[in-house]
Amino acid sequence: MAQIIFDHVTKKYKDEIALSDVSFQIEKGEFVFVIGKSGAGKSTLLNLILKQEEVTSGQIVVEGRRLDTMERKKIPAHRRRLGIMSNDVGLLKDRSVYDNIKLAILATGNADDKMREKIIKVLGLVGLAGKFNAFPDELSGGEQARVLLSRALSVRPQILIADEPTANLDPDAAWDLMQLFEELNYRGMTILIASHARGLVTIMKRRCITLVAGRLAADDKHSIYNQKAMDIFAERRILQEEVKNSEKRLFLP
Ligand SMILES: Nc1ncnc2c1ncn2[C@@H]1O[C@H](COP(=O)(O)OP(=O)(O)O)[C@@H](O)[C@H]1O
Ligand SMILES: [Mg+2]
Repeated sequence: MAQIIFDHVTKKYKDEIALSDVSFQIEKGEFVFVIGKSGAGKSTLLNLILKQEEVTSGQIVVEGRRLDTMERKKIPAHRRRLGIMSNDVGLLKDRSVYDNIKLAILATGNADDKMREKIIKVLGLVGLAGKFNAFPDELSGGEQARVLLSRALSVRPQILIADEPTANLDPDAAWDLMQLFEELNYRGMTILIASHARGLVTIMKRRCITLVAGRLAADDKHSIYNQKAMDIFAERRILQEEVKNSEKRLFLP
């Protein structure tokens, strides 16, 4: 059975239709982008998987568990199986990197006497083992994003869900982060990323689920940012510009 199943999912907020009859399946170990313009429904789709929102109609199944009939007391355990990287839940500025991750582990009830080793280890995964005493303000944007990733990994998730993880990053830092996602995926983790960073999405050549105004406009296996599904010529020009720029970046000596 697929690891994530969306079966004719519609989500309305009052009269606003955020997702409309969306169906797809994601297998374990896949690397998938959810792309689309601002307001297309990307965050809604992710929040439904986290069960932070409820579907209006249709059905979502994650790792064999139906979300609509999931008991309230099982929701924390459900979320613990997912690594969540979102700028909505940023780092606490008055806590060290170490404490930020420690608090996340405590919140999931996974604390034990190996906590310190675990934290150093997850920081090591993102190349920041030496920064555990730093405060968020002492880190670059890219490093802060890597701490967010490290915090998401601290629950040892099967599935990593990231909402616009490169939103605040310069191109180099964004690229580094994508490399980390690739590495995690190589080790077997399912990766689901909402993004509208077209240049990046294009070079990654991964599956892309394209949302346009809440509808699933395309689902491409090894996609570029789907041009057919997006509408106007201006976008195409921007896309080509970005691809050119990212190629330049990639092949610089
Ligand atoms: N909590 C909410 N209450 C009401 N409307 C919402 C809420 N969250 C999102 N929406 C609306 O649903 C649509 C999709 O939003 P969202 O999923 O955040 O899109 P994206 O992440 O692609 O920018 C938008 O029109 C947005 O205004
Ligand atoms: Mg969003």
